[in-house]
Amino acid sequence: MKTKLLLLSCLLMATSLAAQPKLNEKNIPEVVKAMSPREKALLVVGFNNACEGYSPGLPGTAGLTHPFPQYGIPSVVMMDGPVGVRLEDRFTTCFPTGLLVAASWDRETAARVGRGIGQETLDMGGDVILAPGMNLLRNPLNGRNFEYFSEDPLLSGSIAAAYINGVQETGIGTSAKHFAANNQETNRLDGDARMDTRTLRELYTRGFEICLRESAPWTVMASYNYLNGEYTQESYGLLTGILRKDFGYEGLVVTDWTGKRNTPLQLHAGSNLLMGGTYSQTEHILASLEDGSLAMEDLDFAATKVLELVTKSVSFRKKDFKAPLKTDLEAHAALARATAAEGMVLLKNEGALPLSPSKVALFGVYSYDLLPGGNGAAFVNCPYVVQVNEALKGAGFSTDPGLEKLYKGYAAFAEADLTLNHKVNVHVGRPQKPELEITRSLLERVEKEADVAVITLGRVSGEARDRILGKDFLLQEEEVNLLENVCELFHAAGKKVVVVLNVCGVVETASWKDLPDAILCAWLPGEEGGNAIADVLTGRVNPSGRLPMTFPLDYFDIAGAEDFPYNFVSEKANESAVHPERRGMDPKNISYTDYTEGIYVGYRHFVTRGQAVSYPFGFGLSYTTFAYSRPTVKLSGQRVTASITVTNTGAVAGKEAVGIYVHAPLGSFAHKPERELRAFGKTRLLQPGESQVVECSFPLRDLASYNEALSRWETAKGSYTVYFGANCQAPAASLPLKLSKGKNYTSKR
Ligand code: BGC
Repeated sequence: MKTKLLLLSCLLMATSLAAQPKLNEKNIPEVVKAMSPREKALLVVGFNNACEGYSPGLPGTAGLTHPFPQYGIPSVVMMDGPVGVRLEDRFTTCFPTGLLVAASWDRETAARVGRGIGQETLDMGGDVILAPGMNLLRNPLNGRNFEYFSEDPLLSGSIAAAYINGVQETGIGTSAKHFAANNQETNRLDGDARMDTRTLRELYTRGFEICLRESAPWTVMASYNYLNGEYTQESYGLLTGILRKDFGYEGLVVTDWTGKRNTPLQLHAGSNLLMGGTYSQTEHILASLEDGSLAMEDLDFAATKVLELVTKSVSFRKKDFKAPLKTDLEAHAALARATAAEGMVLLKNEGALPLSPSKVALFGVYSYDLLPGGNGAAFVNCPYVVQVNEALKGAGFSTDPGLEKLYKGYAAFAEADLTLNHKVNVHVGRPQKPELEITRSLLERVEKEADVAVITLGRVSGEARDRILGKDFLLQEEEVNLLENVCELFHAAGKKVVVVLNVCGVVETASWKDLPDAILCAWLPGEEGGNAIADVLTGRVNPSGRLPMTFPLDYFDIAGAEDFPYNFVSEKANESAVHPERRGMDPKNISYTDYTEGIYVGYRHFVTRGQAVSYPFGFGLSYTTFAYSRPTVKLSGQRVTASITVTNTGAVAGKEAVGIYVHAPLGSFAHKPERELRAFGKTRLLQPGESQVVECSFPLRDLASYNEALSRWETAKGSYTVYFGANCQAPAASLPLKLSKGKNYTSKR
């Protein structure tokens, strides 16, 4: 079929007349008018890079649009995304994953990563990087959470916007994905996310709304899933009503790499470019024009959006594009390292950190085989990964050579074993390795020769599969044994134990966090991860990351815990994509998922219900201390401005993230979360004794809740409380704010 498609377009090119208009930024309507229905039907259906005989993208390129040289229309080249450029046959920088970037609570960090990835996309001949992934962290077990940012839509939307602005500064486009409510991987193509409109508007589309207010991504990617009984790609209400009319989005909507669905419905709804694209979709468009199920104006609209994208692309602008310097991979490695250190979160520290040069007993296979990123579209073929053992040695520590030999040998064996037995596609991922059992006698020998123990525990996840509660969220027996034995022996000798979490997301911590003396959550930190971990462990960098999600005491403490396929085990990598009804399975949480928790996701649930957690949203320790003083809040016109002075009261330089949470009166609502994040900022590196005023300003409209009966946002009159501090459970200061006049923000729908 692909060859047929190619021959057809070649034929079209050959038979085209010289009088056809050549595309420029101003004549898009003219070009659309000149194109035949067949040409337009080819233009709005893209194809994968594997198209035989025609392949301007490098191997691994995710997709392309159709070229029409007779109109001066080149192919737009799309690459994955989002932690680096994913290609098969060459190395690119593996930056830290989305969660870590969000944990920096720093827009500039996100923008810098965006600029780096944009630059590499440009160098690799891409036009659009399929990033950022910005679905909300509804449940800790979603297999793709590591790509995303937060359980809070404001943090997600603002970090996404900064990333997008960074990428697009380099002349490369982005794709804010996956719109919307793609919150699980199990049956991701056909699962129905069911929720009320308030939840949709306040949480699952809200991050995109904020992102679109602060940036203009060239594309938005419509997700695979159903939303309330309709495929998002076929939902006029979602793609045209909410996205275009309410949010004012003017760019292109590309479908996730779906294949054929109801093509006329997709185009009418507002999907403008159908990916990965099959020739049957082009045929379907032509047949639908013929039988009247597709209006020519819907096809013209989609064609217009594709041509607008084409005119922005490097492929089109090449002739007058001033190519910036080619990627300096060393500079990007340094950027990856600095970013990684900026987003690591220190969860516990009882006199163990920072470490001073000493003999370290380094346990855990991931100390020697660090997980830089996750699997699937976000996998990056990186040139190297700096290991924790190498980095610590580089920082003047000595490590146990016997342990190193043992773990390296085991890592190689486990990789080979898992790759053979599980048929892992090396282009898109690495398998999770079980932890190695260490004998008591070896532990005793190692303890005698070391000053301190560091244990790295790893979790990897990825596309098409969710994590499983018992196998993945909880620590496994070998891990618990290792932790208990190391702590017992080292503590008996008066030595400290540090745990490094090299994880794709939340893991259970409550049952074991009392054992070690320090816990550093390093996430999936990219190719320079080992160096960044060493930077934080040694105090070269004072940690300033704060959790972008809650670590609960128990999985079942989260709201809606039962409404997720938390124990769904699939035998084959793609089985979760197979419609379960065909396999006679219980459809709940697989065919459909009820979002019974509504707006009470993450901290909104825990803070409102006053329920204890292991580590709250916004939590993170530092090697210094900060004092908050002189909070202010003022309302002027339609904006709220809140500020606070942050002073470094400790002995070392450090940065502090500041969250502004607001408690709102109920107004016409029966319930609201106790407090919600409405703004955030971060200080520069403050020297001991130094202060900085952190000021955040946001529209009054951001204090509103969505009244679904009246289809409008409402800001209630009455007494508000503004809280200052990143940790949602323990804000450092608060101030009252009174609104004497409420304002209704009526949605257009
Ligand atoms: C993923 C997208 C990705 C696309 C192209 C899909 O399976 O869901 O995130 O951009 O493939 O590779």
